[in-house]
Formats: sequence, C-alpha cells, structure tokens
Amino acid sequence: MRMVDLIELKKNNHELTKEQIHFIIKGYNDGNIPDYQMSAFLMAICFNGLSKHETAILTDEMLHSGEIIDLSEIAGVKVDKHSTGGVGDKTSLVLGPMVAACGVKVAKMSGRGLGHTGGTLDKLESIPGLQIQISKDDFIKQVNEIGIAIIGQSATLVPADQKMYALRDVTATVDCIPLIASSIMSKKLASGSDTILLDVKYGEGAFMQTKEEAKRLAQTMIEIGQHLGKDTRAAISNMNQPLGKAIGNSLEVIEAIDTLNGSGPEDLLNLCLEAGSHMLVQAKKCKNEESALKMLKRVIDTGQALDKFKEMVKYQHGNDEYIGNPELFTKAKLIIEVKAKQAGYIQTLEAKTLGIVSMKLGGGRQTKDDVIDHSVGIILNKKVGDQCKVGEVLAYIHANNEVSDELINELYGAYKIVDFFVEKPILIDEILV
Ligand code: URA
Repeated sequence: MRMVDLIELKKNNHELTKEQIHFIIKGYNDGNIPDYQMSAFLMAICFNGLSKHETAILTDEMLHSGEIIDLSEIAGVKVDKHSTGGVGDKTSLVLGPMVAACGVKVAKMSGRGLGHTGGTLDKLESIPGLQIQISKDDFIKQVNEIGIAIIGQSATLVPADQKMYALRDVTATVDCIPLIASSIMSKKLASGSDTILLDVKYGEGAFMQTKEEAKRLAQTMIEIGQHLGKDTRAAISNMNQPLGKAIGNSLEVIEAIDTLNGSGPEDLLNLCLEAGSHMLVQAKKCKNEESALKMLKRVIDTGQALDKFKEMVKYQHGNDEYIGNPELFTKAKLIIEVKAKQAGYIQTLEAKTLGIVSMKLGGGRQTKDDVIDHSVGIILNKKVGDQCKVGEVLAYIHANNEVSDELINELYGAYKIVDFFVEKPILIDEILV
C-alpha cells in the first residue's frame, strides 16, 4: 500500500477500507507517513467527508493507537462529560462535583486551552498546589475513595490524535465533523468511563457555527459511542456569547465556586442542572430527569456539592482554603471599567472576540508553550438581552499590565448595542439521546 494512492482515493471521494485506514493511522503514528502526506489526506477529508463506517473505523484505529484505560477497579458506573469548547466554559468544575455529590463516580480527563478557548486544567491550576498529573493507579484510588478526579490526559492516551490535532491546528483542518468526532470520541472511549455526556456548542465562539452543524456533530459522536456500547448523549448549547460572566482562569474558578454555592449565574447553573440530570439517569442513579434535577438542586442547597469540590481540591494537593474563601485568589493589579458609549439593549456579545481579548491579556495561549497568567481576564456586567445606559459598565478588564486602547476597542467591538428590545437567548436547544 502507498499513502499517495490512498490520498488519491479520498481526493476522488472513494470509501476507504479498514485495512487502508489502519495503514494510514498506524503509519502516521509510527512516523512512517510524513506530515505533508497526512495534511493532504486530512484536507481531502475536509472536502469530501467520511462515511459513517469510515468515521467509526477511524475512531477505532485512533483509540487503539495508545493506552486504553481500564477503570473496572472502580466500583459502580463511571460517568464522563466533554464540552466541544467555548469561552467562559467552566462547566466541568461545577458539574463534576454536583454529580459526584449525588453518589455517582466522575473519572474525568481534561485538556488545556488553546487560542480563544479555555481549558479545565488551566483553570484548576489557578488553585495553588493543585496537581493534575496523576498516575493511573492514584486516579483510580481517588475516584474510589472520594468519587471524583479531574486530571490531565496521559501522554500515552490516543497518541495518534495528539499528532493529528497539532497538524490540523496548523493546516486549517480542525473544523471538519468526522475529524472532530473521531478526535473527541477516541479520547473519551480510551479514558474508560461507562457513559459520556457531550456538550456540543454552536455559534460564533464555537467550532460549529450553526445549530444544524452542532446536531450533525453530536449525532455522529452518539453513533460512534453507541457502536462501541457506551451510553452517549449530547446537549446542543449556544456559544454565541460566553457562558456565565467570568472569562479567565481564577475568575472562572471563583464563578464555579459561587455556582456551587447557589449564587452563580443562571445560565451556567441551568446548563449544569440539565446536563447533570442526564448524567444521573445515564448512571442509573435516578429513574428520570425530574428526580435527578431534584437531587442535584439538593446537593447545591445543602452545600454538599461545594464540599465535594473542596474534597477533590484537597485530595489533588490544592489549597482547599481557597474554595471556602475565594478572596484568597491573587487579584490582577488593574481593574478597568469598560463603559457603554450608547444606550440600548445588548444584541450580540461575540464570545470569540472576548476569548481573544482574554488571551491577549495573558489568560490564554497563542502557542502551546505560552505561560498563562491565572489572575487576568474579563468579568461581563452586561450580556445579550440586558439593557444599558450611557456610562454603565459593560465589562471589567482584569489585567496585570497596562491595557492598550486597541485592546479596549477590541472588547467594545464584541458588543453590539441596538435601540430596540432584545430577548435573552435560549442556552440549551435540546438534548439528543
Ligand atoms: N476538541 C478535540 O478534542 N478535538 C477536535 O478535533 C476538536 C475539539
């Protein structure tokens, strides 16, 4: 077999066989197929797509390119969730402890942020001392003992995806449904949980621009999960504006703590309640979503969800005093008020633009090696559907260096204010099961 012939086949929209896909993934993972041939192949997939059968085979080949974690030593159903990424998305920090406080085991491997999207690991690392590189044995022990662990993905997990994702990132081949689906699902399947809840985001701040594309991606991932015997469900949610009010690492952890305390933003809490209710049903903890919802609200009201987060932080060597007293988080040196120059209603609030502003403040990475400043970011005071008067604060910039007028103008550019009433947008469109 020759890679050039397989590229030619995909260029001409032929369906590839299991042997051919195996040859490509193994060859690339082993270093026998060069980046330039893989790039051409990935671009051909972007133009011609993959059949359901090819997508399932690709996922399976990627899954078997490295270690597959066996969580059978953990008693009970292990649940996992994954968000396709967005701005201000601190869901895992809230949802994980809520679900674990209900007695369901959460064994989660998370990633770092890149570009305008944030990553759960970077957020967690704003808690002093917290460790995310944990051995497999300690991971299993932790989930068995306290019911939850959120750690970094091991380097041995789906190495083919690690190589392919880095290549896709620089060859404009990320936003392609079969490639995203196989990338996400191979990692979720390799991390060993029994059930998967996906949060597939659409909109200006997400990979998928439209609801329809997000549904197609979700459906593709559900089919892959079900094909491999995992209960997989997907929430389709709106990322046309950031989730919650905080963007930036420690600011988002503080917002997650507030939400676990019952005083966080409504959109974040609702997403966690809705997604969490499905996770409890998937784990067979509750018979239906209504009873699951009651259980989740109870663990917030009683403080058990926040206690679970504290317990996880302590177990992972983080300073848990920060969870009880968020005032301890290091604050940025400057807090700049960005005030409305016109009155009206917020019609749009571009998530991607805000994610980029936060990244430029130092809260995110432009390249993999950039070092993050955990204390910087943005707190939104006005979101879509809110009314504002001239001079009212739209957002607060938290910075450690002087902020240029250019960057402040970029933030202004994220807001579109109109002189007529604007409805608040719906956050979750539906949950596909
Ligand atoms: N997240 C992933 O893990 N992979 C993709 O391809 C896109 C988003």
